[in-house]
Amino acid sequence: MSVGLEGRGIVVTGGGSGIGAATCRLLALKGATVGVLDRNADAARAVAEEIGGLALACDVGASDQVDAAIARADAELGGLTGLVNNAGLGNLKPLEDYSDRDVELIWRVNFFGTYACLRAAAPFLRVAAGRRREPSAVVNVASVSGVRPTRGEAPYSAAKAATVALTSSAALEWAPTVRVNCVSPGFIHTPLNDMLVSDEAARSGVEDRTPMGRVGSASETAGLIAFLLSDESSYITGQNVVIDGGTMLTNAQMDPVLGPLLELFSGGDPDADGTDPGHN
Ligand code: NAI
Repeated sequence: MSVGLEGRGIVVTGGGSGIGAATCRLLALKGATVGVLDRNADAARAVAEEIGGLALACDVGASDQVDAAIARADAELGGLTGLVNNAGLGNLKPLEDYSDRDVELIWRVNFFGTYACLRAAAPFLRVAAGRRREPSAVVNVASVSGVRPTRGEAPYSAAKAATVALTSSAALEWAPTVRVNCVSPGFIHTPLNDMLVSDEAARSGVEDRTPMGRVGSASETAGLIAFLLSDESSYITGQNVVIDGGTMLTNAQMDPVLGPLLELFSGGDPDADGTDPGHN
């Protein structure tokens, strides 16, 4: 069993920027040969040149392009043992203001793109698993927005929730040959939200609601993705791992009720005098 990623061929979609680019860099550092897939050909080429990887100019929303790019990656990376479905985009506006075209685009990239890459990669991932005698691995990138939607992101949240469900289906159908997991980031500083993070009020609003007290980084997210691709996570499949600095905890339904009682009851023995306020 290998704990690094030596000898592994892995494709990262949306690898030209943000979380995808950080993932490509980390995978290469851990010994993998990386296919940097992005619809932005220049960005894919720049990251691929930096890490000695393979640039794949491809729109994940076009299945003919996906089929060709994945087959090429398998041939040129010496087999496909891993896939990261990270390409994504979203928007922020009221539900009723999204046009058909908006909704179709958001679903096409975030959900259908993931589906098309999974479908194209399946036979190659199976062959590589047989050759390596270890399961191949896929990581889909969804969002906390798919688990606990945010106002203004209706089609994006729904597409990410569907990605979580798709992860479960693929994990069930492909075990034990291919492991399939999902990563759901909270607020991670990338070009996608640079405008928000650069705004002092918006940034401190996020920090105040995040138990870890700060916005996350692309390289922290890449670390989780690399773990789920590696044989160190060999018994994990079908999971959705949230990486959000604890932000979702502050939205827990009982938090506003029990939170203020914390100071009142802290330090006491919960069983001594029946003052335990209970747990949820
Ligand atoms: P980013 O905008 O920095 O990078 C996205 C990359 O995907 C870009 O290089 C873009 O060219 C590529 N891409 C977009 N559409 C594509 C298509 N049709 N075909 C191929 N490539 C395409 O974004 P970021 O922040 O790195 O996001 C990566 C993933 O993480 C996305 O799926 C996003 O939804 C998800 N995410 C990000 C969060 C954040 O706070 N940054 C929070 C939750 C989820």
